[in-house]
Order: sequence, then structure tokens, then C-alpha cells
Amino acid sequence: MTPIYQTSTYVQEAPGKNKGFEYARSQNPTRKALEDALAIIENGKFGLAFSSGVAATDAVIKLLEPGDEVIAASDMYGGTYRLFTKIFEKFGIKFIYIDTTNTDNIKKVVSKKTKLIWLETPTNPLMNITDIAAASIIAKEAGAWLCVDNTFATPYLQNPLDLGADIVMHSSTKYLGGHSDVIQGALMMNDTGLREKLYFIQKRCGAVPGPMDCFLVLRGIKTLHVRMKPHCENGRIVASWLRNHPKVSKVYWPGFPDHPGYAIAKKQMTDFGGMISFELKNDSLKETMRVLSSTKLFALAESLGGVESLINHPASMTHASIPREERIKNGLKDSLIRLSVGIEDVDDLLEDLGKAIG
Ligand SMILES: Cc1ncc(COP(=O)(O)O)c(C=O)c1O
Repeated sequence: MTPIYQTSTYVQEAPGKNKGFEYARSQNPTRKALEDALAIIENGKFGLAFSSGVAATDAVIKLLEPGDEVIAASDMYGGTYRLFTKIFEKFGIKFIYIDTTNTDNIKKVVSKKTKLIWLETPTNPLMNITDIAAASIIAKEAGAWLCVDNTFATPYLQNPLDLGADIVMHSSTKYLGGHSDVIQGALMMNDTGLREKLYFIQKRCGAVPGPMDCFLVLRGIKTLHVRMKPHCENGRIVASWLRNHPKVSKVYWPGFPDHPGYAIAKKQMTDFGGMISFELKNDSLKETMRVLSSTKLFALAESLGGVESLINHPASMTHASIPREERIKNGLKDSLIRLSVGIEDVDDLLEDLGKAIG
């Protein structure tokens, strides 16, 4: 097994003459093994590991200069929105939020100042789908980079670099780690120049993961395909069961043929994953909170992608950083419940949800 090189520095042969590694912020053999594996699973040439998903996103935005513009999806992980609005706007980077599910909307706002298009597909938590290949054509014409947050799909279901993206971003905390025991992020790319720029940022800004955490993600990746099959199978069963439940009004899952993004999802993903959101017919906050607090097997917690199932209330948890008005405008209601369907026995999961919904 790849050892955990628990070291901050490396003995050198002579002053200025190292044996391939000099200081662990720049490189670490455990991290190097992970970064090589990250590149391979996304069909990329290069991988870079960061101390969190947000740190990976932060590194991408640091490619930009004041005055540059970013076109981003209006529905995405709340922490990404918070990073853009609360940290980077004040450095003079402009973010334009639009509904990217219709790529014509990107064409309408793209300009000479556009340096980056930021997509999440499927989105967290509304499971919206954007056509990556179509967005990549627009990005190329504009001379902008296309970065895709592939956390929900995972490299097992979708490979954005193959569809024309320049950078793939992951919160490795989720499915790559797979066991809810590590915080980490990743970037994968093909272009050598882009890799050099991002490596420069990784090394200079220093948001690198420790070797133990790299070991955990490296181990997680080995079973990604084994875990994703039951995540998808259980996801399909839970989504259909919810849809037939008399107390459920709406289920967000891209595997339903009448989901607006179904055709694109089918084209660019090999299956539809285990992330599901839903609303109750009684959409009072009281009833929503009651259901959220009633499950036993689905643990009430932020995060997703671990083998154990989680239940989450985006409005007060993962997406609380998005102003309510903005959230509602984008379709994220206070009554939305998000599930990360794990790999437990699906009958146990249905029984748990059944008792909670009542
Ligand atoms: C889609 C998505 N992107 C990025 C992140 C941020 O990752 P991290 O929590 O590892 O910083 C998350 C976290 O929930 C996420 O769901």
C-alpha cells in the first residue's frame, strides 16, 4: 500500500539538490500517488489535491484578475456561492448568475470579459442538468475556461474533460472519499499550462491536504465503482417510491424521463446517481422539520456521498448562506428535503422514510 509519508520536509543530497521532494507544501509522495489517481479517474493528464472542495474552487478563481467576469449557475452549492459573493467580489471579480440549463442563457451574457464559466451538473440541491458539451463550445469561442463541479455525478457517472471542459472540480469529501471521514478537494485538467498555473496557486496559497487524508481518499477511490452501483440502484428505488407516495408532491431526480434535464443527463451520464430532493404536499415548515427529525437510518447531517444515508434541509443547512429571496427565486423552497441515498439495504431505507413521512 502507498505509505502515509507523515513528513513536512525531506533530506536533501546537497544544498539546493533534492531527491525529488523538498518540502511537503509543494509535494508529498502520498499526495502525488493520489493526484495521479485523480487524473486517471477523470481521464485527465493532471490532478491536484486540495484541503477541501472549497479550497479547490478558491484556487480556480485565483486564476482570474480584477475586472474578469465569471458566468455561474444560479443553482449550486451554497458554499460556492458564498465564496464567490463574500470573498471574491470584493477583489473586483464579477459573477453573473444565470440558469445554465438553457445554454442559450450563457450565450446572452458571455462577453470579452468572460474568463470562466462555472457549472455544476447535476446541481446541489435541485438536480438541474446542464449540457457540458454545449457549454464548452461557448466557452471555447469566448476564450474562457469551463470548470465543472462534478461532485454529484462522480467520475464513475460523468467525465466533463471528455465533453470539452478545461477543469473538473470535486469535493472529494463526498463520493471520492466515500466514508464521511475526510474533507478534501480535487482539480483535474489536461492542459499543461493550466496545470502549471493551478500548481503555482496550490503551492503558493498552501491549501494542501495532509498525507493521512490523501491516503483515505486514495483508498476511497479504489471502491468508487463498487459503491456507485448500489448508490444508483438505491437512488432509483427511493426516487420512484417517493414519487408514488401520497404525501409527497414533487421529487427532483434526473433519472425520471419527465425531468427537464433527462435527455441531456442520459447523454452525458452513465446513470443518475443517488442524490434526490423532494417536497411534501403539506409544505409547512413544521411538517418539513418533523420529517427531517424523524428518520433513524437517514442521519440528519450536512454533506453527502458517504456509504451511510443522510437527510438534509438545504434552506437551513447546506444552502443557508444564500439569501432567502435569492434561494426562492431559483426554486429552492424552505420545504425542500435533500437525501444522499447510501448503500444500505434499500428496504430498510424505505421503511425508515415511510415511518418518518407517515
Ligand atoms: C457540489 C459541491 N461542491 C463543493 C462543495 C464544497 O466541498 P467541501 O465541503 O469539501 O469544501 C460541496 C460541499 O457540500 C458540494 O456539495
